[in-house]
Amino acid sequence: MFPDMTIPAPFAAQVAVVTGASSGIGAEIARELSRRGHELVLVARSAEKLRALADELPTTAHVVPADLGARDARAGLLAELESRGLTPQVLVNNAGFSTLGPVHRSDPERELALVELDVAAVADLCSRSPARRRTARPRRSCSPTRAASPRS
Ligand SMILES: NC(=O)c1ccc[n+]([C@@H]2O[C@H](COP(=O)([O-])OP(=O)(O)OC[C@H]3O[C@@H](n4cnc5c(N)ncnc54)[C@H](OP(=O)(O)O)[C@@H]3O)[C@@H](O)[C@H]2O)c1
Repeated sequence: MFPDMTIPAPFAAQVAVVTGASSGIGAEIARELSRRGHELVLVARSAEKLRALADELPTTAHVVPADLGARDARAGLLAELESRGLTPQVLVNNAGFSTLGPVHRSDPERELALVELDVAAVADLCSRSPARRRTARPRRSCSPTRAASPRS
């Protein structure tokens, strides 16, 4: 019914960016994509953890540390990919965190940081994606990308 919105099947040798790849679900997604043959770009703040993961993966994995809660760092990430000649076909927007507890005890700065990472960064990375910019007819690439993330 919505053919453009189906999640594309993974293809070996395509570049996949996994944000939040330094631990948990993101690291497992990276392992699975690598097992399927994808070249990877691993993104998170913890460079050492990303390097350790890259060393264990069977395909090439580029380590690009970045704080995705910062707008200039997100722009820098995309510039870095371009400078390395990488055009990702898959973007897994996994980086994020959540807060718990009563609203009246919440930290406003922390809540805003959550929105910046869990919401703004997702829209930002999707809309700036090099693959999207190269597509003549805009595909709904963001929806399936989000659908592939653990938060969808
Ligand atoms: N586990 C669950 O039950 C569950 C439930 C609902 C939703 N989720 C969501 O699913 C995603 C993965 O969950 P998880 O359990 O695997 O969490 P996790 O182990 O805490 O991993 C979060 C990942 O996001 C990265 N990250 C956090 N802040 C970042 C920032 N500012 N810039 C770049 N990377 C950042 C972390 O790396 P660094 O610290 O190295 O930057 C880490 O790699 C998260 O978005 C989470 O909110 C999880």
